[in-house]
Amino acid sequence: MTSSAVPQTVGVIGGGRMGVGIAHAFLLAGARVVILERDSASAEVAEVGLTDAITRSVERRSTQESEDDLLARTGTTTDAADLAGTELVVEAVPEDFALKSTMLARVERVLEPTSYLASNTSSLSIDELASKLERPDRFLGLHFFNPVPSSTLVEIVRGERTGPGLVAEARGWVEAIGKTPIVVRNSPGFASSRLGVAIALEAIRMLEEGVASAEDIDTAMVLGYKFPVGPLRLTDMVGLDVRLGISDYLESTLGERFAAPALLRQLVEQGHLGRKSGQGFFTWTE
Ligand SMILES: NC(=O)c1ccc[n+]([C@@H]2O[C@H](COP(=O)([O-])OP(=O)(O)OC[C@H]3O[C@@H](n4cnc5c(N)ncnc54)[C@H](O)[C@@H]3O)[C@@H](O)[C@H]2O)c1
Repeated sequence: MTSSAVPQTVGVIGGGRMGVGIAHAFLLAGARVVILERDSASAEVAEVGLTDAITRSVERRSTQESEDDLLARTGTTTDAADLAGTELVVEAVPEDFALKSTMLARVERVLEPTSYLASNTSSLSIDELASKLERPDRFLGLHFFNPVPSSTLVEIVRGERTGPGLVAEARGWVEAIGKTPIVVRNSPGFASSRLGVAIALEAIRMLEEGVASAEDIDTAMVLGYKFPVGPLRLTDMVGLDVRLGISDYLESTLGERFAAPALLRQLVEQGHLGRKSGQGFFTWTE
């Protein structure tokens, strides 16, 4: 049963890490979901990912529906025309402006004028993406976090041309899938990346200046400010290269205060990318 706030049918463009998580979240809340992928091999990978996520949620009893009933409401496709009739489409293709705007425009053409489009971009401008659309008033940002099932925050990004009422509608969707929305005006880094990166950059500068060890800087925030994980360890988990990319982007849009410390650039150049490479500010052995 669909809760009244959840669209009956939700399309997702890009069935990677985020897309599968987003489709799964709407599915558990009662929607029918269709994932659009670029080719049949990727569609198959997305289907396997979604099926695994469904199995896990049935095993963990996070749904009362059976695996078969849930699976019956899923589909994958490589043809944008199959998203016709969906009420909401969330785009989650890789972070590339041209790719995102091409896919959003392609899907917009097949949708009913009453349906909505959203982008899960972590950093691109919602206003610039909207400028390529026929109905920018029906478009906004829905920034989910990774991993989607256990991350309860969703940033709703309001563009300049996002229609009145759509933000309230989006709040309803987010709450209906069991997550907490915050509303952010379109601006570089939205709320989460901007603040998260600002703290991480300062922590790296402190390490660089020998103010304290990485362990102690993190402990200051964990014990002193109740952060669940310290800013340096979190940077290792996100990837030093990913954070460097965001900091370069924020420097170019918000100014020098986001300039990456030399230590961050150096570690990335040396291939020390954090958990994924085994070494960042900490050594990762698992
Ligand atoms: N991974 C994260 O931590 C995270 C967190 C929040 C937001 N995001 C954002 O979510 C988006 C997706 O990230 P991801 O980590 O899921 O990436 P990903 O690489 O895991 O998935 C992207 C998917 O898009 C598919 N794709 C590529 N071109 C396509 C096309 N033309 N048509 C349809 N599908 C296509 C790929 O096959 C792939 O399955 C990005 O904008 C990213 O910035 C990522």
